[in-house]
Amino acid sequence: MACSDRLSQLKAFDDTKAGVKGLVDAGVAAVPPIFHHPPDPHAAPVPPIFHHPPDPHAAPASAIPVVDLAAAANDRAGLVAQVRAAAETLGFFQVVNHGVPAELLAETLASVKRFNEEPAEAKRPYYSRDPARRVRYQSNFDLFHAPAASWRDTLFLELPAPEEEIPPACRGAVPEYAREARGLGARLLELLSEALGLHARYLEHDAGCLDGGGVAVGCHYYPPCPEPHLTLGTAKHSDPSFLTVLLQDGVGGLQVLVGGRWVDVPPVPGALVVNIGDLLQLVSNDRFKSVEHRVVATSPAAAARVSAACFFRTTGAAASTRAYGPITTLKPPRYRSVTMAEFLGYYKGKGLDGRSALDRFRLPSSDDPCI
Ligand code: OGA
Ligand code: NI
Repeated sequence: MACSDRLSQLKAFDDTKAGVKGLVDAGVAAVPPIFHHPPDPHAAPVPPIFHHPPDPHAAPASAIPVVDLAAAANDRAGLVAQVRAAAETLGFFQVVNHGVPAELLAETLASVKRFNEEPAEAKRPYYSRDPARRVRYQSNFDLFHAPAASWRDTLFLELPAPEEEIPPACRGAVPEYAREARGLGARLLELLSEALGLHARYLEHDAGCLDGGGVAVGCHYYPPCPEPHLTLGTAKHSDPSFLTVLLQDGVGGLQVLVGGRWVDVPPVPGALVVNIGDLLQLVSNDRFKSVEHRVVATSPAAAARVSAACFFRTTGAAASTRAYGPITTLKPPRYRSVTMAEFLGYYKGKGLDGRSALDRFRLPSSDDPCI
């Protein structure tokens, strides 16, 4: 497709302000070319010589650990060890007994679904790419930057935001969920601080990982897709945060890149998914891993998928003044310092193009033969 052609198709799609849901409602039977992703090099099937007969006794296994936070009461060291192992390798784990009420989680997912399933006219006033607006409904934050668009719409909230700016469907549950998730994020940062051998308040207070007091929430809606093999719900990326807490519904589709293969993060009722973001990989000087993940497009027969991701990062004035670099005791530093504003500006301008934003801030290594 010629460049100018692609740009005019992106623009025409964006101008509908109705997102992917609008395409689906209009009955598209084929995925438009702007959403076509190149074939994925990691998606190669396992060769038949490695196939084992299915084991009838096997429990549905997942590589992604499920960590019971209630265990903290009597085995803090064991809990820290579990969190450390996950943060240093997979960069992902799920948590149960996290203290966020199940009804609030259910209501959050229902609210996001309700908003997205309102008529296009009700959603259109919220559709915006203006970064000055704290609440923005949009399809693909990187629509005009990424190599391919993804089969997903998002209501993005930078909280706290004035209540009247939040769509009525999401006013109650979503800000409350974000507040609760922030409390959980702070507890997880304590465990991660201890996992680095530091005092529990280090990452939040000394390193300033939650400075500014805000939280950014991406409320995603993945409509069923007529040709899911041609596109993705979210392209491969790592997160622009210190830490992300994600609530997903029961549909599934989130995958993590583990040893060159995509591994499912299966929905676990009541659980929240936690992952290390790019900024914590930087601050921990590569001790913790910000691992690439993606969402496959929802199959045509499935219900729409809904998720709500809370990104913990510096907000407000602190985002442009505080510089983050590797913790000084973790030598030698592998990254230069960066402000949240500079990091986010680079991340957003680049879009989800399959490359890590962290590479931009990495210092040349002393064992690099080129220097
Ligand atoms: C994200 C993300 C996954 C999902 O918002 O960064 O990876 O399941 N979301 O929606
Ligand atoms: Ni992500």
